Amino acid sequence: MPTRQPELRVSPDLAAAERLSDHFRTVRNRTEALAAPVSAEDAQVQSMPDVSPTKWHLAHTSWFFETFVLRDFDPGYDPADPRFAYLFNSYYDGEGDRQPRPDRGLITRPTLDEVRAYRARVTDRLSALLDAAETRDHWPQLAALVELGCHHEEQHQELILTDIKHVLAQNPFAPAYAAPYPKRVASAPDHRFVAFDGGAVEIGHDPDAPGFHYDNEGPRHTQMLTPFALGSRPITNGEYLAFIEDGGYRTPGPWLSDGWATVCAEGWRHPLYWRETGDGWQQFTLRGLQPINWDEPVCHLSFYEADAYASWAGARLPWEAELEVATAAARHDDANDLGSGRLHPAVAEDHGTGGSSGHGLAQLAGDVWEWTRSAYSPYPRFAPHAGTVGEYNGKFMCNQYVLRGGSCATPPGHWRPTYRNFFPAGARWQFSGLRLAKDL
Ligand SMILES: [Fe+2]
Repeated sequence: MPTRQPELRVSPDLAAAERLSDHFRTVRNRTEALAAPVSAEDAQVQSMPDVSPTKWHLAHTSWFFETFVLRDFDPGYDPADPRFAYLFNSYYDGEGDRQPRPDRGLITRPTLDEVRAYRARVTDRLSALLDAAETRDHWPQLAALVELGCHHEEQHQELILTDIKHVLAQNPFAPAYAAPYPKRVASAPDHRFVAFDGGAVEIGHDPDAPGFHYDNEGPRHTQMLTPFALGSRPITNGEYLAFIEDGGYRTPGPWLSDGWATVCAEGWRHPLYWRETGDGWQQFTLRGLQPINWDEPVCHLSFYEADAYASWAGARLPWEAELEVATAAARHDDANDLGSGRLHPAVAEDHGTGGSSGHGLAQLAGDVWEWTRSAYSPYPRFAPHAGTVGEYNGKFMCNQYVLRGGSCATPPGHWRPTYRNFFPAGARWQFSGLRLAKDL
């Protein structure tokens, strides 16, 4: 029997036009606020193929609404410029040819001001569409696509931050994106392992639960877990330094073969933004170059580094189902996500054997994305959404690993316990760290 393609449906809390319209404008405004400290020169740079210029993010998120909403639901709509479809399509084959990804930094025209005007035009037109009475005829479909576009834009908000961090890190004087933030002087609680029973567990988006989810979070299904333990918090900079000082980057022992080959080819000796200076270890942050706080979670690791650390520590990376079970059982209202304004992972608080996390695990949400040992693959009976938006997730289910839990750059309300982020094993420029796991 062929698998049915899931229908895109708007969340109940955004089903009313006024609510959706407010939400849309909030998301658009946040993107512009995040881009505000970025100069026109900063906004043009593509520091590596994986990084997109800020200007491109501003335009691409507008192209998404123009293409998947305005074109189909606003009969009188004229595209701002027909060439933008080539320049700002990311990867949708169904939408035709496009600028090669590594060459996004070469798009010097339109200018940043012209892109800002393009954004304003799309925002105004879509707001008017949401407010128009005649829109009601195809409301369910239109509303679902606008909600998807908002979540899409939130993903790009995180990318604006991770990408501009990489751009600014290339500048010899390490300029800051944001002013310093008051430091919290605290020690990380001792690391310990917390036991879980295992058995048959249900994971994935519950179709009866309200709220948005991407197609890759379903269908909900059963997985068998053997008894396991998870680290009470992510691994800190100090713990990772012990791995470095024990020769972690100089011996192939703990590394996967591809990981060791990458260490040798790239000359890796420490996490991406660490620098060994005359004043000791420093790290580049969105708030400039700062001495490393050894109690904070280690960040900007590849899957290879996370896996090597876990092997060196006599443990392993968690399976994504293990993290989902632990995360679903916890509360996350105090998560250090983009809403905290910190823009950097924070020292874990001691949850003892319970507290707000239920089982005593700290930082399951926010701070750093946690690499898992799970390959990014479809869940049983997965089917992408119908149409070109079906290219959103499914076609990337190859040669990548799942990360869980959100980061300090994830917009508030964007993440949920079933959320599956994914990157190739060598990617280090996201806010990615690790939590240990063990078999019991
Ligand atoms: Fe995108």
